[in-house]
Amino acid sequence: MSETPAGTPGTTAGPSGDALENLLAEGRRFPPSPEFAAQANAGPDLYADAAADRLGFWAARARELTWETPFTEVLDWSGAPRARWFADGRLNAAYNAVDRHVEAGLGDRVAIHWEGEPGDTRTLTYADLQREVSRAANALEALGVRTGDRVAIYLPLIPEAIVAMLACARIGAPHSVVFGGFSAEALHTRILDAEASLVITADGGYRRGAPSALKPAVDEALAHGDTPVRHVLVVRRTAQDVDWTPGRDVWWHEAVDGAADVHAPVAVEAEHPLFILYTSGTTGKPKGIFHTTGGYLTQAAYTHSVVFDLKPDTDVYWCTADVGWVTGHTYVAYGPLLNGATQVLYEGTPDTPHKGRWWELVQKYGVTILYTAPTAIRTFMKWGEDVPARFDLSSLRVLGSVGEPINPEAWIWYRRVIGGDRTPVVDTWWQTETGGIMISPLPGVTRAKPGSAQVPLPGVSAEVVNEAGEPVGNGRGGYLVLTEPWPGMLRGIWGDERRFADTYWSRFPGFYFAGDGAKKDDDGDVWLLGRVDDVMNVSGHRLSTTEIESALVSHPWVAEAAVVGASDETTGQAVVAFVILRADAVERADEPGEGSDVVASLRAHVVHEIGPIAKPRSILIVPELPKTRSGKIMRRLLRDVAEHRTVGDVTTLADTSVMDMISAGLHGSAAAPA
Ligand code: WTA
Repeated sequence: MSETPAGTPGTTAGPSGDALENLLAEGRRFPPSPEFAAQANAGPDLYADAAADRLGFWAARARELTWETPFTEVLDWSGAPRARWFADGRLNAAYNAVDRHVEAGLGDRVAIHWEGEPGDTRTLTYADLQREVSRAANALEALGVRTGDRVAIYLPLIPEAIVAMLACARIGAPHSVVFGGFSAEALHTRILDAEASLVITADGGYRRGAPSALKPAVDEALAHGDTPVRHVLVVRRTAQDVDWTPGRDVWWHEAVDGAADVHAPVAVEAEHPLFILYTSGTTGKPKGIFHTTGGYLTQAAYTHSVVFDLKPDTDVYWCTADVGWVTGHTYVAYGPLLNGATQVLYEGTPDTPHKGRWWELVQKYGVTILYTAPTAIRTFMKWGEDVPARFDLSSLRVLGSVGEPINPEAWIWYRRVIGGDRTPVVDTWWQTETGGIMISPLPGVTRAKPGSAQVPLPGVSAEVVNEAGEPVGNGRGGYLVLTEPWPGMLRGIWGDERRFADTYWSRFPGFYFAGDGAKKDDDGDVWLLGRVDDVMNVSGHRLSTTEIESALVSHPWVAEAAVVGASDETTGQAVVAFVILRADAVERADEPGEGSDVVASLRAHVVHEIGPIAKPRSILIVPELPKTRSGKIMRRLLRDVAEHRTVGDVTTLADTSVMDMISAGLHGSAAAPA
């Protein structure tokens, strides 16, 4: 409920005014070296090929997968906005990610170099992966999972996470991975919505030098007693004590290790759902974005090959995302394996046991391609150049960025300090909904511009439009839309067809509305300016203001709450909450020493309802919230307060003195920043 549902581009987040002008004035250009360009997977012709015959281009990309039944029809858009790609073909995702490489004689190639946070390691070749995935698929079937059943996965970043996803794909059971940082409540909502019949979890994982528990959250989620879950499959990772529900709980090692290591993959229709992944939207309820098999895999394999210039026999690829996010789906679980890559998987945090851990891993495994988020890069900048300087990073040859706009300084630092002033940097724009990268430089073609994602990939059609849906032209700002269907596009919101059409396809009829503000510079390159809706981007993670508000309001002391994303040097945005307390709680907050307890209790409540990633940086107890005459909260003004700016135009407020009350309250309150 922001003042304008879809906002004005660039006003909800991201730079505006002078900051934007400075950004666009960024004049540095980084063309690929002639040597890089000469060996690149994608050359300039790819744009022309795709433009000449878009559907033919996508069909050719799809034929790079192995189909059990080849498709004859490329796209059926007659039921728009519900697309059907390659619909009469049949294939299996796990077969494409694993078995076909083994059949091609590449069974001994390392698929995964896994490193646990404590330093334990495991290496899985493609042949190992084939056996593991087959065993797990047999075990799932023995537990009653059938094609079409949903399986929730709630795991740390251990090889079993990938094995579990692929085992589901192997039997055509859509997986719904829930990030391990989400709370029991968040897990419960997702299990219910997807009607999952099985949960795969672990006793715990390692984070920041200590084991952290996962199984208790599953127990708590299932204690509601209202889910269709029949079994919980538990990986033993940390050997912590776990509560056990006999008959329901099954150890992974007991069910999987003894299962047959041969399993016939189930070929499914191209449009068979591959996975559901919940993401934040503008309402309190997370959306179950679902992707289907043929189109998604096509987009994953193609983009992974051309954007990272992947050479499967020589590259060592590392995407630092967790499989709980879409980046970990497309660029850890599916893309690299479809392309037969060797990849690094690291369980833990970048500063455990020391701040050079990532660079130590790059050196140890000879990583050649690194894909990470701007928030991580900005953190490394803060830690100082001397940390990476202690390691040999000369193996790196392509660097990627994802999740939020990367500011030119971070881009330049990334290339210079990590990439030795030698590597192309690709800033990749996409979303959970798009399934794969949409807008990005091609490393062997594009004269890279720090801070801009630049141009749609060959095969992708994007535009920046004004309120009326007309292209804005170069030098102008507006809303980012995708103007043609693409294979990896979401096929819907699980169980909510209406919301799918309303959210993405109603604002600009015929176009997919991404929810991002964007500007085209004088060369026609696209600059992403942040969300124009109520979605925040904290450390590259999507969070909904409404979802956090709902969590706060569910606390017995809270009468009303408004949440904004305030810009933050490291995390991009940070959660700042403005809360009106109920009368009885106000007294409590006013007592000496009690005020901070109120704030602490509210923060803990948000962690309980959603998870640590949603924890507000500050909670400000206020007497009133700024509202328009029609009762809408003016978040713009709250953002001014949260970002310590002079409060902007208040003339549309129902009560113009509210902002003074808020400022006065803040100065006098013990409950200022938590
Ligand atoms: C933002 C993550 C600018 C954007 C893959 C988008 C970006 C949202 C970029 C999707 C980028 C992602 N530059 N903004 N390179 N990449 N975003 O669904 O606001 O977690 O709408 O997918 O992240 O977040 P999601």
